[in-house]
Amino acid sequence: MIPHLLSVDDLKEDFLIDLWDEALKNKGKNNKNLKNKIITNLFYEPSTRTSSSFYSAMIRSGGTVIPINNVKFSSVTKGESLEDTIRTMACMCDGIVLRHDQIGAAKKASAVSSVPIINAGDGNGEHPTQTILDGFTIYNHFNKSINNLKITMVGDLKNGRTVKSLVKLLNRFSGNSFCFVSPEELKFNEKLPINSYETADINEVLNGTNVLYVTRVQKERGSIYDYELSMEQLNSLPKDAIVMHPFPRVTEIPVSFDSDPRAKYFDQIKFGIWCRQILLEKVLLK
Ligand code: CP
Repeated sequence: MIPHLLSVDDLKEDFLIDLWDEALKNKGKNNKNLKNKIITNLFYEPSTRTSSSFYSAMIRSGGTVIPINNVKFSSVTKGESLEDTIRTMACMCDGIVLRHDQIGAAKKASAVSSVPIINAGDGNGEHPTQTILDGFTIYNHFNKSINNLKITMVGDLKNGRTVKSLVKLLNRFSGNSFCFVSPEELKFNEKLPINSYETADINEVLNGTNVLYVTRVQKERGSIYDYELSMEQLNSLPKDAIVMHPFPRVTEIPVSFDSDPRAKYFDQIKFGIWCRQILLEKVLLK
């Protein structure tokens, strides 16, 4: 069977723990484990981190990348279907990293692909490799544990695919509780985990939060709203809490908070490479 990664549902807990432990061991070091392997980065939506992170991970592991980072410069503009683009690239490489603006695009691609498809974000669907690095950031900070945490998610919870995927994952580990903070029109519209609380006022829930997961408002998906957490609010978090953000950041977190040891968003980016190196090995060498 082809080991596609389409959703967090494809990631079993023991697979993840093993991946995170291997990432901790390798710490992004260069190796030749993926020598002679080729992936295609096929991006129908803009990306800075995910496309570059896969690129960096592949190169660090001795492999090669075909970069189609902007389909405007590909035959997609001539009317080529997603399916034919996938069939074509599958002839040339060992795996395809696909970002698309349509929910379900990765699944559609997997139906016609002879090589593994890795979902790098499908509309407001899922973003499972972001969840791998987000989970790793939590696992690494809380001494290899991802249980019994109060996780506060704030921002555009309706459109944020990283939130959707991360909640799915954290809800599988025991003892976690969730606070969802957003205005009414951007509410999390998935099934809520059992231990959930919803509010529009972040000041209600900062106390006792272990992980504050901040997301931007997705204007490209029609959301209109701006917000900025204040230094006072961020400073009121417990000293051992962490502040995460999948980035890009717009106004949500003041730059002056970046030097606070609780700010983990640049670590997340670094950990993305560590984790994707191991993920690519697991997918391409299977
Ligand atoms: N976190 C994330 O998906 O960032 P990019 O959109 O830059 O890839």
